[in-house]
Amino acid sequence: MNTENRDFMTADLVPRHDRIDLEQVWKRIDEEVSLYVSRTPKSAERFEEAKRSMVNGTPNIWWNHWRLPDPRTNEFLLPHLWYWDRAKNQRCWDVDGNEYVDYLYADTPTVWGHAPDNEYTRGIAEAIRSESFCSLVPNDEALVVTQLLQKMIDLKYWFMSLSASDANRSGINIARIVTGRRKVLSPNFGYMGGPEEGMYWKPSPNLPPVTRWAHYVGASPDPAVKIAEFNDLDSVEDALKDRDVAVFVTEPLMTDGGFVVPRPGFFEGVRELCDKYGTLLLIDETHTLATTPRGMFTEMDLKGDLWTTGKAIAGGIPCGVLGMSEEVGDAYAAKVNDLTVPGGAGVISCLGQGTTMAANPVSVRALRLALEHYYTEETYGKMVGAMDHLCAGLRDVIARRGVDFSITQNGVRMHLNFVPTDSYTSLDAVRSIGLGGYHEYFTLFALNRGFVVMPWENMILTSTYTTTEDNDRFIAMFDECVGNMLGE
Ligand SMILES: Cc1ncc(COP(=O)(O)O)c(C=O)c1O
Repeated sequence: MNTENRDFMTADLVPRHDRIDLEQVWKRIDEEVSLYVSRTPKSAERFEEAKRSMVNGTPNIWWNHWRLPDPRTNEFLLPHLWYWDRAKNQRCWDVDGNEYVDYLYADTPTVWGHAPDNEYTRGIAEAIRSESFCSLVPNDEALVVTQLLQKMIDLKYWFMSLSASDANRSGINIARIVTGRRKVLSPNFGYMGGPEEGMYWKPSPNLPPVTRWAHYVGASPDPAVKIAEFNDLDSVEDALKDRDVAVFVTEPLMTDGGFVVPRPGFFEGVRELCDKYGTLLLIDETHTLATTPRGMFTEMDLKGDLWTTGKAIAGGIPCGVLGMSEEVGDAYAAKVNDLTVPGGAGVISCLGQGTTMAANPVSVRALRLALEHYYTEETYGKMVGAMDHLCAGLRDVIARRGVDFSITQNGVRMHLNFVPTDSYTSLDAVRSIGLGGYHEYFTLFALNRGFVVMPWENMILTSTYTTTEDNDRFIAMFDECVGNMLGE
């Protein structure tokens, strides 16, 4: 990797606060690690056994984040992962019998609660045994859900996939087929799940984008990806002006490296630039659908050509969806229906969208039940109410303690920033995570006191089951945590 990139990536992204002595915080982190070890002996045993059949003892690599890197030693802070035994509504219990209130919800999919006893779970159980449950062919249920999706988001055509990653992958493929261009534009530090195009970033403004695994494989001389800075229309124009970009894939508010809030006018400008240079705009609402049941797409009147989501869209059963404007859908259909394409019928040439199990009956039924029962004003009212209460309490603590921290709320999702204000650039957002002491201490302190938060940034979710009592206990825990950071 280029030295300039390496220097940038080791640059000081740790926020500094006059009243917080980070060395003292690291001593407290060591105490929390010892406490964690003493609370989780059975997890330690499971970890040893699990490593015999899973890399690092986990079947989904993101759970590995729980071990938290220690920048002092370049080792993991936690000697072993922790393993769940069971969960119900907002609570879960680990194999050692410790009880937690979940504020992570597997990074969204389980936000409707664990094993809820409701119309959704009963509907799926009934459906699986029913004869009308014909598989993997279009049926009336697909018609119902796509009509529901049309009401939710103002786009005409809908595809289903098994994940948000796959919805994005399909959106990129379709944009390439429709525009005849290969390149994809992504905001710096943007994340779109599995697609390779989301695995780039641009550590330095004057250098080409590098893959996130460039350390292992080296940078590509002709990356299929361009990077622009979120909220910076000049950099978007710079990326689009060669007219070689098929699609700009972006969240409406970036959530995957701290939160980056859109400045007024940014998306209007993006729309104009996309129109000017013939690039499609894909809005990824995998996370920001947490704002309202119709997402920021509707709330901000975003006018994207494509729209994707996944994670919680079908209530926790694997499913992603991709919406397309009439123009994009019709242009795509024209290619698919062009049977004169050399090398095979158009339909074959346009393969690669979704996977065989896309729109399987379990996912489609789950999607229908979730759209009918979860994506309602009533459900969101409850969840956002819980989040409003939590944010107000945490802001009170921040004000009373006089620390330069802040909260960015996005519906039922929020980010605790270890900096004083919302972030408008990706770099500021990464800094707001407080890696290097703040984030690690908060995460472990919360876990040891029975609260599951996100181990890679400070993103917190509330569900319909989160109670005022849970939130008040969380706020008291945060108060104690901040007091300890201040050495009180
Ligand atoms: C904005 C965004 N898009 C897409 C994805 C991919 O979701 P999944 O891993 O469920 O496919 C994620 C995952 O965190 C995401 O944050």
